[in-house]
Amino acid sequence: MRTLKAAIIGCGAIHLCHLEALRQTPDVELRAIVDIDTDKGLALAKTYACDFYHDYREMLRDVNVDVVHICTPHYLHKPMILAALAAGKQVFCEKPVAMTMADIAEIQAAEAAATGMLGVCYQNRLNPTSLALHQLLNENALGRVLSISAFLTWSRSAPYYANSAWRGRYATEGGSLLINQAIHTLDLMQWLGGGVTRLKGVVDCSRLADTIDTEDTAMATFDFNSGARGLFFASNNHTRDAPLQLEIHAEKGEFQLRDNILWRVSEGKRAMIANDATPYSHSKSYWGMGHLQAIQQFYTSLRHGEIPTFIGLREAAKSLQLVEAIYHSSQLRQWVTLTE
Ligand SMILES: NC(=O)c1ccc[n+]([C@@H]2O[C@H](COP(=O)([O-])OP(=O)(O)OC[C@H]3O[C@@H](n4cnc5c(N)ncnc54)[C@H](O)[C@@H]3O)[C@@H](O)[C@H]2O)c1
Repeated sequence: MRTLKAAIIGCGAIHLCHLEALRQTPDVELRAIVDIDTDKGLALAKTYACDFYHDYREMLRDVNVDVVHICTPHYLHKPMILAALAAGKQVFCEKPVAMTMADIAEIQAAEAAATGMLGVCYQNRLNPTSLALHQLLNENALGRVLSISAFLTWSRSAPYYANSAWRGRYATEGGSLLINQAIHTLDLMQWLGGGVTRLKGVVDCSRLADTIDTEDTAMATFDFNSGARGLFFASNNHTRDAPLQLEIHAEKGEFQLRDNILWRVSEGKRAMIANDATPYSHSKSYWGMGHLQAIQQFYTSLRHGEIPTFIGLREAAKSLQLVEAIYHSSQLRQWVTLTE
């Protein structure tokens, strides 16, 4: 089998998850890394025994690079995806795939004209608890779903933003809490609930108002396509990164995600269904364990192609659409209807 050669653009916090996944994937080799921080990039390239580029456009001219991993600040995702697809590369991009739905339309057109595929990293769908829950809901295990509620309370301090020029600004992060931290939760909600018809949302900046020009807290009420209700609350103002709390209330009981354990509660009994494993040493607990599977799914699809099993642009756009709709609704102070 031909070895696929990969390049990682952006060697910040998340690139280690990609690096580790590449190392664990058979017949894949890290060919190059790219970063605008030359000292860091050169040192890492020596450690990883690969090439280093300061300018990603130069790396894209390397005909030996098959797959490009984009691990850069949000405002760079769209231009880097467009350039990589135009150069004939396969692309695996960190979430969010872009900052606005208008960007999605542009990427869609570029992808249609390209030979390469685009995968997006929503690794939390691959948590054992997420997979089990999705299957149980598909099987209608507790009857019709009445509501899905999610409660996400994490901690992002003023120094976290002050030490990173791109975070906390609409122009470079595209928002904050919603588009960066809570987008995984919004993705899980819409995936488990089968799509959202309309929502009413509010965003606010309270504790971080002197530091960021984006939001640190948000809430929303959804109507799912199925008729079920959704309730969402998220904040970066907690004092720790608490595990996501999710509750699915159905006709015959509840599914509860607490401390990364999925419980089924029905007929007065509580049973454990699935438990998310401990993350790798280089990963943060709230990132989950899914990077390896998400990246391996992408490479498997590249090799055996016809039915892609990875999350592509269409799926990735769904949570971005919710993010955008919550901002919009908050401005309008009205319900916003989502279109296909
Ligand atoms: N899937 C997840 O759970 C998860 C978790 C964390 C981060 N992320 C995502 O990963 C991406 C990166 O986040 P991070 O926390 O690693 O950010 P970071 O700020 O730690 O790292 C970004 C890196 O990109 C480099 N960079 C900036 N401009 C560049 C350019 N023009 N060319 C090449 N490199 C450039 C920076 O020097 C830095 O090394 C974001 O999209 C973020 O949302 C995803």
